Amino acid sequence: MIVKTPPLGWNSWNTFGSNINEQLIREMADAMVETGLRDAGYEYLVIDDCWSLRERNEKDELVADPEKFPSGMKAVADYVHSKGLKFGMYSCNGTLTCAGYPSSFDHEFIDAKTFADWGVDFLKYDNCNRPLSYSGRLLYKRMGLALANCGRDILFSACNWGAEESQNWIKETGAHMWRSTGDINDSWASIKDIAEKQVRLLPTNGQGCFNDMDMLVVGMGGKGNVGMGGCTLEEYRTHFSVWALFGSPLMIGCDIRNMSQEIKDILMNKEILAINQDPACRQPFAVPMIQEDWFAWKAWVRYLEGGDIAVGFFNFGDTPLYPTLALTEIGLGRVSGKALRVRDIWADKDLGVRKDHLSVYMEPHCCVMLRCSVVDA
Ligand code: GLA
Repeated sequence: MIVKTPPLGWNSWNTFGSNINEQLIREMADAMVETGLRDAGYEYLVIDDCWSLRERNEKDELVADPEKFPSGMKAVADYVHSKGLKFGMYSCNGTLTCAGYPSSFDHEFIDAKTFADWGVDFLKYDNCNRPLSYSGRLLYKRMGLALANCGRDILFSACNWGAEESQNWIKETGAHMWRSTGDINDSWASIKDIAEKQVRLLPTNGQGCFNDMDMLVVGMGGKGNVGMGGCTLEEYRTHFSVWALFGSPLMIGCDIRNMSQEIKDILMNKEILAINQDPACRQPFAVPMIQEDWFAWKAWVRYLEGGDIAVGFFNFGDTPLYPTLALTEIGLGRVSGKALRVRDIWADKDLGVRKDHLSVYMEPHCCVMLRCSVVDA
């Protein structure tokens, strides 16, 4: 199975934590269709930790908690599939999951078969409670091999938070995406921290195995399992833009049954999603300009398939900024005889043709996302 663009979907953890059940998952499947998220490309509906009983059955298999999931996981998977979505589940490489439920250590092949029998299409695989003598590097390979031999295409989403320098070996394991940083929470500080830590890992991102910056907090509004202070709309827009431009999988974490129009407009912005899903999956580069502190201001540029250029300006600082990007820094400039036709995506505005530079204005924590086409000067 080859995954060509960053996976898109929804995951239960950020808002619901252990408070999950069959009814909720069915409602989420319905909401993915009714809100238009599915048609915008969000495909996977993923149940995170806390879905199982505390004990395996007599055949040593994992068992869905019958109080939470009275119809069983196969029925839930069938419902999710009937909505034109794909179904994801969660396990872990240790003896217990991060929340203390039975986990797949030494049960990799039997669990992969169980997931395949239920109709699972995506497995998030965590990194807690590992016996000390086993490396993640080995245990992720075990599950990668088990999934590759389970008789069903199951996307392997490794979740080891970038531990053990996993950027150096994660592709050995068969992972299709891998958590490159620690857990997100619904605060501006967390968004900023993850974005900054991602920078050195960008060269490892690419088609087939994507750097996962963690589930989105867009729209959480400080509520739910990882809800902290919450963020402003502008901060959510910047968060979404960075994740999209950096080529991360986009797994929504808010309660999609109750999204405001503003939140829908962020999560379903077609032009931002098109950059995230650009088939070339190239890494963005920082334009080497201006100040030492990359958060102060810096443009992130990504060459897209077909010759267009995406440019993201992010103001992670606390004062307004007016950055300028010289076109010579991105391969153009007077001598090329070319210029850029510029579109401001969030403002939904065509800005005309620029020959020398791009200048924008940003309030603190805001961003500007441009899509530019190369034209004759
Ligand atoms: C870890 C993961 C989270 C979530 C929890 C569940 O912390 O990084 O994304 O899956 O475990 O317990």
